[in-house]
Parts: sequence; structure tokens; C-alpha cells
Amino acid sequence: MEKKVALITGGSRGIGKAIAKKFADNDYNLVINYISDNTNLDELREYLENGNNIETLFIKTDITDFAACEEMAKKAIEKFGRIDVLVNNAGITKDMLLMRMKEEDFSKVIDVNLKGTFNATKTVVPYMMKQRNGKIVSISSVVGVSGNAGQANYAASKAGIIGFTKSLAKELASRNILANCIAPGFIRTDMTDVLSDSVKEHINEQIPLKKMGTAEEVANAVYFLAGDENTYITGQVLNVDGGMIM
Ligand code: NAI
Repeated sequence: MEKKVALITGGSRGIGKAIAKKFADNDYNLVINYISDNTNLDELREYLENGNNIETLFIKTDITDFAACEEMAKKAIEKFGRIDVLVNNAGITKDMLLMRMKEEDFSKVIDVNLKGTFNATKTVVPYMMKQRNGKIVSISSVVGVSGNAGQANYAASKAGIIGFTKSLAKELASRNILANCIAPGFIRTDMTDVLSDSVKEHINEQIPLKKMGTAEEVANAVYFLAGDENTYITGQVLNVDGGMIM
């Protein structure tokens, strides 16, 4: 039987890499989107394919570029003939209190996190509609639900992803396309490694489970929503946050 295909934006490191590994381990072929970072792609390919009889396609694309996203979806279809899962994972932060936030810091975060999610989704959904089958999981954040001082741009982008996803869930249900969000809390990645030890300690105190999560714990939740066994959950936000938001 033809393998299923998962396209993961920002799949070269952090949470995206863990998501890619989870799908690879479950026999999905992978389309890994990335922009330039320090990732060694040969090592990454070996890591993802290790022990799995799957194929990977790496596509360097800035997801803020709509035409480039169209090209990315086309290349994925040319290689694999299908896209079963889209994970909108790529994201950035430019944290600053509103009073100090520059207009370009607001625009850039919205452009990558929210418009990028639109670009990737809009260009993949036509293929899912033809298949009459698809799963879209977008990575929001607990701060998109609760807000956070110093992250007005990021929280707005992540809240936007939730509204976007709920709308998609309603529009696409008749085509058997399910759309959901994951809202991670604090997860140990390059994004959070830059925090000082005292900030990390303060964060842990506020989490009922008293520790940050791992990228693998987020990947497990993504797979739960995007894998074959989810046939009846759509338009939801699943918090993966050690109990921070209840
Ligand atoms: P990361 O910085 O390690 O990885 C982000 C990925 O997105 C990288 O592969 C990067 O190359 C890619 N990316 C950035 N801009 C891009 C663009 N314009 N086009 C294509 N790719 C682009 O971050 P991390 O921590 O793995 O975060 C992944 C997602 O999870 C993000 O959406 C983030 O907002 C979200 N998240 C992370 C949390 C954390 O505690 N680490 C908590 C809540 C949400």
C-alpha cells in the first residue's frame, strides 16, 4: 500500500524535528520544510530514515512567500502523489513589551506565524480536497489562549492560528479534512534554552507538573490528532502544557 505523506513546516529542528521523527517512525514519507539554520541535512535525513523504510524530501522555503509555498506543495505532489498531513509548526518570537515593540517586530511575527500558516494551508488544501481526506495540525501556544506580557505579537499570532483552525474545521469537514491545534506550554528547545536558569526555575514553579515539556511530548499529541485513529476530533485546541492552563 502507498505510504502516507506528512508535510511539516520548520521541520529541521526543535519540535518540528520531533514531529517529523514521530511520523517517520509510523511509516509516513516526509516533506520537511525549513529555512536556513545550522542543521546538517544529511545527518537529519539519516536520523529520520534510521530504521524506517521511508523517503524524505527536504524543501528550503520561506513560508512567508505564498508563491514559494505553492511551489513546495507542487514538488511534494510530484514526488509522492499525495499529502495526507500538514503540520504548521514553523514559528518565531520577537518578544518585547508593547511600549518598546517596533512595528516591524509585530509584522514579522504575524507574517511568519499566522500568514505562514495560511500560506502553507491554502496551498496544500486543494490536494487534500481532491483526496477527500486530510489532517491539518497547527502549533499554537498556551499564550495564544492566555496572553502573556512581553509577547503581544506572538500571542496575537498564536490566537489567530486558533481562529483560523476553527474556521477551517467548519469549512473542510464535508471533505473529510480535520483541522486542530496544539497549544504547547514551555517546551525545552532552542527557543527556551536561551532563558536564564532563574527564569526557568520561575517557570517550573508555575507548572502543575513542575517541569518543562519535551518536543517528543508535543509530537505525540500531534500524531494523536493527525494519525489514522483520529476520525472525530476537529476544531479543537489541545494544550500540552503540564497543566498550566485548565
Ligand atoms: P525552533 O526555533 O527550534 O524551530 C522553529 C522552526 O521554524 C525552525 O526549523 C525554523 O527554521 C523554522 N522557521 C522559522 N521561520 C521560518 C520561515 N519563515 N519559513 C520556514 N521555516 C521557518 O522553535 P521550536 O521551539 O521548535 O518551536 C516550534 C513551534 O512551536 C513554533 O511555532 C513555536 O512558536 C511553537 N511553540 C514553542 C514552544 C516552546 O516552548 N519551545 C511553546 C509553544 C509553542
